[in-house]
Amino acid sequence: MEILKCEKVRKIYGSGASQVTALDGIDLSVNRGEFVAVLGVSGSGKSTLLHILGTVDQPTEGKVSVDGIDLSLLNRTQSAIFRRRKVGLVYQFYNLIPTLTVRRNILMPLALDRKAPDQGYFEKLVASLGIADKLDAMPSQLSGGQQQRAAIARALIYRPALLLADEPTGNLDQRNTREVIDMLKLSNRNLNQTILLITHDEQIALEADRVLVLEDGRIVGDEQKRTTTAQPGTDSDIAAGGYDRRAAADGHGRHTTAEGRL
Ligand SMILES: Nc1ncnc2c1ncn2[C@@H]1O[C@H](COP(=O)(O)OP(=O)(O)OP(=O)(O)O)[C@@H](O)[C@H]1O
Ligand SMILES: [Mg+2]
Repeated sequence: MEILKCEKVRKIYGSGASQVTALDGIDLSVNRGEFVAVLGVSGSGKSTLLHILGTVDQPTEGKVSVDGIDLSLLNRTQSAIFRRRKVGLVYQFYNLIPTLTVRRNILMPLALDRKAPDQGYFEKLVASLGIADKLDAMPSQLSGGQQQRAAIARALIYRPALLLADEPTGNLDQRNTREVIDMLKLSNRNLNQTILLITHDEQIALEADRVLVLEDGRIVGDEQKRTTTAQPGTDSDIAAGGYDRRAAADGHGRHTTAEGRL
């Protein structure tokens, strides 16, 4: 099942002599459960693409659909809700709220919708991410890797259609990088989580199912390295120990989990 579609997406910043074409006709289709790495030199348009997919920014031309939703049809309020419920954004700097505990940071997207978390899913998520014993700490009391894992937990708490990560390991040492990448792979495999991961690191990109290469705002490489095993729209993710996404669609924001990791 197609979860993301970009058609002829262009993004132009500025005007006149200072005009920059950051994206120059992006056509892209991503299926549910794919783990896609996005490579490209600095300035090639990677972050611009992610911001547009996450409704942080709008394209100048073209059309983007996520989970069947045409993003151009969303007003400001709807965009904010879409950002909270349908995409999980993870950045190089963790953007945790310093005055809130780790627990409250992770639960923030649900709290904004006045929804209670499913305790089982929450506990598995934080246990899988290795931060279960840090929930009552403040972000400043955590290491960089732990803060990033808390940011990933926050991004996954709503079971988003898309996890968008912009160099999430750019600020981490080798060990923490490994842990964060392993966590992303785990959520991809066990929850059938669709992931777009921007990285400068070709070794990390090799761990994805598919590698896109951007150059001057165009896709110049699109290599499928593995076909995703989970069948779209089936219960295979649940059988793998995942989360029942039909429950997420019930409008009550109740998350139910099957037994298993994450
Ligand atoms: N808000 C903005 N206003 C004007 N130009 C911008 C803006 N944001 C990005 N650009 C330009 O668009 C182009 C693409 O930028 P983008 O941030 O998407 O690159 P990137 O591939 O993420 O680079 P990096 O690897 O350095 O993060 C660059 O030429 C950049 O200068
Ligand atoms: Mg960038």
